[in-house]
Amino acid sequence: MESSCDETSAAVVEMGDGVRAIRSNIVASQIETHRLYGGVVPEIASRAHIEAISNVTSQALQEAGIGIRDVGAIAVTAFPGLIGALLVGVNFGKSLAYSYNIPLVAVNHIRGHVAAAYLSNPDLEPPFLALVVSGGHTSIYAVNGYTDFCEIGSTRDDAAGEAFDKIGRVIGLPYPGGAALDRLAYEGDPHAIALPTPALTGDTLDFSFSGIKTATLNYLNGMEQRGQEINRADVAASYTARIVDAIVKKTEQALRKTGMKTLVLAGGVAANSHLRAALEALCARLGVRLAMADRTLCGDNGAMIAAAGYFEFCNRNFADTSLNASACDDGGQA
Ligand code: KG4
Ligand code: ZN
Repeated sequence: MESSCDETSAAVVEMGDGVRAIRSNIVASQIETHRLYGGVVPEIASRAHIEAISNVTSQALQEAGIGIRDVGAIAVTAFPGLIGALLVGVNFGKSLAYSYNIPLVAVNHIRGHVAAAYLSNPDLEPPFLALVVSGGHTSIYAVNGYTDFCEIGSTRDDAAGEAFDKIGRVIGLPYPGGAALDRLAYEGDPHAIALPTPALTGDTLDFSFSGIKTATLNYLNGMEQRGQEINRADVAASYTARIVDAIVKKTEQALRKTGMKTLVLAGGVAANSHLRAALEALCARLGVRLAMADRTLCGDNGAMIAAAGYFEFCNRNFADTSLNASACDDGGQA
């Protein structure tokens, strides 16, 4: 079960030796509701999850052709995310697990995104480097085992998805702007507008996207003040190209530093076709295997949480009825 942001989702997956199958993956998106406000309104998100979660879960079981008593374990996103939204899934998952005496596992949403790559690439195994690019996160992990993650780089300010959505909104694209910006970028010239490549210099594997966002806003404001017309496609193309350049640069640095031979790409922004193509070129050049989450599994969904939950289950990382949600990346451990 997934309810960390603006999608309520429940899925049934079958995992085991040589089996990684999605039996159902129901996603109820709230995007249309939040679009009115240009972004996710947390209070509205929580309420929409409450309304949807029971039906979404019934539908997932029905589509998988099983009953709740056939479920081997319940996995639920416990962190990170919007606290009120997370609490809905956590409480619902706990109630089901308690009522039917089913093992419960808590899942880290980011690890869930990475697990989408296991579903998309049936032979994928750790160790690998994972690049998770989403609306809330942009991080690189050394994944040394199914539940052994070490963050080696992360954004110091905005996530890439946040940066895409912000400029998307300013140039009049509907929320969330990421996917629309991706399409619009094909119609523009990536070199039309001089924007800085937002890559931090030196050894660090961290990202920073606030500088290019500000540079782009300054460009747009300057054009408006001079009464000049903005070519939105050129903005989309130039902005996307520089962000992709920066992500590719840090990913190459991380691959060289760790010597990892496989790169996993996951998270909502992993659906970006320019990023996928650039990473394909990078991995071909470096002789690294690229294992991407299918585009249909990049956005938040229950199947990725269930798959990650399977590995927690194998590790006997069970949760009990005292499980709480946390907005923090570390589940509130620090
Ligand atoms: O992983 P996700 O569904 O939610 C979070 O965990 O944050 O990511 C959502 C983000 C949004 O910022 C959305 O604009 C972005 O993913 N996104 C894209 C594309 N599709 C979704 N960004 C760039 N290109 C896309 N094709
Ligand atoms: Zn996500």
